[in-house]
Amino acid sequence: MKSDSLPNPQKTFHVKSFGCQMNVYDGERMAEMLGAEGYVAAADGADADLVVLNTCHIREKAAEKVYSDIGRLKRADGSTPTIAVAGCVAQAEGAEIARRAPSVDVVVGPQAYHRLPGLIARAERGEKAVDLDMPLESKFGALPKRSGNQRPTAFLTVQEGCDKFCTYCVVPYTRGAEISRPFADLIAEARALVAGGVREITLLGQNVNAWDGEDEQGRAIGLDGLIRELAKEDGLERIRYTTSHPNDMTDGLIAAHGEIEKLMPFLHLPVQAGSDRILAAMNRSHSVDSYLRVIERVREARPDIAISGDFIVGFPGETEEDFDKTMKLIEDVGFDTSFSFIYSRRPGTPAASMEDQVEEAVMNDRLQRLQALLNEQQQGFNEATVGRATRLLLERKGKHDGQLIGKSPWLQSVHVTAPGLAIGDMVDVRVTSAGPNSLGAELLMEAVA
Ligand code: 5AD
Ligand code: SF4
Repeated sequence: MKSDSLPNPQKTFHVKSFGCQMNVYDGERMAEMLGAEGYVAAADGADADLVVLNTCHIREKAAEKVYSDIGRLKRADGSTPTIAVAGCVAQAEGAEIARRAPSVDVVVGPQAYHRLPGLIARAERGEKAVDLDMPLESKFGALPKRSGNQRPTAFLTVQEGCDKFCTYCVVPYTRGAEISRPFADLIAEARALVAGGVREITLLGQNVNAWDGEDEQGRAIGLDGLIRELAKEDGLERIRYTTSHPNDMTDGLIAAHGEIEKLMPFLHLPVQAGSDRILAAMNRSHSVDSYLRVIERVREARPDIAISGDFIVGFPGETEEDFDKTMKLIEDVGFDTSFSFIYSRRPGTPAASMEDQVEEAVMNDRLQRLQALLNEQQQGFNEATVGRATRLLLERKGKHDGQLIGKSPWLQSVHVTAPGLAIGDMVDVRVTSAGPNSLGAELLMEAVA
């Protein structure tokens, strides 16, 4: 039974995004679109008329969470809001979701969410509305223009999809083929964000460094060319990008790290494993050596750059010897921060049907050893920042009175007590303490307005 709120002209909505930053971006665009349709944002899903679950399919746990979230939307009187499942679980499981969870009204894939209003209208007529198209027309052209952002930082999706087909990964199936958004659209969107008060933009893509396009003069450019153009925008102080593939780290992009002041000294460059045999089975199309060479060159261009990685332990066929090679690679690189995961068998991917799946207990044990080393490296990196003078962009309030939390250029969260300063200010500080996940700092001088 649905709630009887349909005639209410001020219908409320809540978008909940899981998973990667691209989902966060998509969730914001959906919220803006629903706002343009006359919906009002509700603080949480408990009493919203419409709830959009913007889902992630990358690992099993993320996908299963969706079903428990759907169950929790049932109210005491047995009614449910209109429920739309969007994102990668929607794309991967399609109409099956509405069969397994009958309270779901709309299932919409990540390339079709610009059609959400029409799908909701169909659902309100009592249909189960499913749209998993990957239409040729870009959803970006159909979405309303970016509205003013209340925060000083924003994501901007510049590229979507993936043609790499790593054998463990669902992304090429859920997000489709690689596409780059046109240069002019990105400049326009970035300007709208800056006009709304944004000072830092993170360029997003599953393979962001595979972005290519043409500048105003019709010259072919890569991500470095886009970053160079964005860096000319007054008011935009910081630029970041994520996630990159090692094979797409072009000479130009590496050089950009040494040349563009607004490009922050941080590179998230997943490696996944440190054994060439496993990398080949993963179809990563790079080797340990080629990865190390990229890191070396990036560090030559920008010696203080922070390096972040993604790791998968327990890929099918991974032996103790292979795992030791991953540990060795971590020792050799020295990661400043990282994300590590147990291999998750994703239906439909080539690795799911490989022999020699690694036992759960072995995977857990390897993950613990790997994370102990990575945590030690992260703590070491944070401690090495103590005593350094640096600049923060203040992003949110801290727990204590007058405390604000900002990000260092190296993407560390830093607490500072700064009465009189506001979110969005940039301040010079000296780092005074380091924990595993955040730093403390003292103010050096007045805010730079
Ligand atoms: N199992 C475990 N981790 C995975 N990732 C992607 N697919 C899987 C999978 N099947 C990880 C990779 C990737 C990150 C976003 O998620 O490390 O870089
Ligand atoms: Fe998945 Fe590999 Fe593409 Fe990354 S590069 S999205 S891991 S297939």
